[in-house]
Amino acid sequence: MQHQNRPPSGGRLPAAYFAIMTTSRPPADILTQTRTTAVAATMQQIRAIIGAALEPTPQQLEQVAACLRQLAALGGLFPDAHFPGPDEGVAETLYLLSEDDDLNNALYLYRPAPGMSTPPHDHSTWAVIAGIEGEEPNTVWQSGTAPESGLQISRRFSVGPGQSACFTHDQIHSIAIAGERAIKHLHLYGHSLLDLPRRRDFNAADGSSWPQTEKPLVLPPQSLTAASHA
Ligand SMILES: [Fe+2]
Repeated sequence: MQHQNRPPSGGRLPAAYFAIMTTSRPPADILTQTRTTAVAATMQQIRAIIGAALEPTPQQLEQVAACLRQLAALGGLFPDAHFPGPDEGVAETLYLLSEDDDLNNALYLYRPAPGMSTPPHDHSTWAVIAGIEGEEPNTVWQSGTAPESGLQISRRFSVGPGQSACFTHDQIHSIAIAGERAIKHLHLYGHSLLDLPRRRDFNAADGSSWPQTEKPLVLPPQSLTAASHA
């Protein structure tokens, strides 16, 4: 599922958003507080939509995507100073924005560098992505007619600012980042990326798959001290 419509206007987001959006460079602590409030409000909305469902319906995921697009539209809350792109030679950087105590509903700010690409993979949990800055080209794969016939491309699309996409736990996709600089997107997963032992990578040629054992490096947002001197 891919969505390109504008974020809904009926969300209950803090009034402090508007102060941030109209201030050219708010103090880092105010910005962090406002972002924390915005993320918490968004996740509260999302928890209310999903409830206890481990595998939300497509309709629920579309509602979650609308909430995430609304948060992603507030790009001023996610400055490079707080969320720098990957260092030279590093493919991607993930920043943890929110996570429930049971590791469910894990929200990250994702910054993959140009040239970063993944093999086809599933997530073993639902996922919703929303664009803040740059384009995230996606390829969705499906199994061939026979087990040994490999994967076939189902569709391709790009998620940019104002756009989103949803994936069920068993959908297979890959991404390949182009452009000039690290993109900046929100990635929300049903469960922590550090605790998905059933997640699998695939060989598109023969359809074989194996557990994805490499865990990503997940960072907190850049410290306020560093950010205030950026
Ligand atoms: Fe993925």
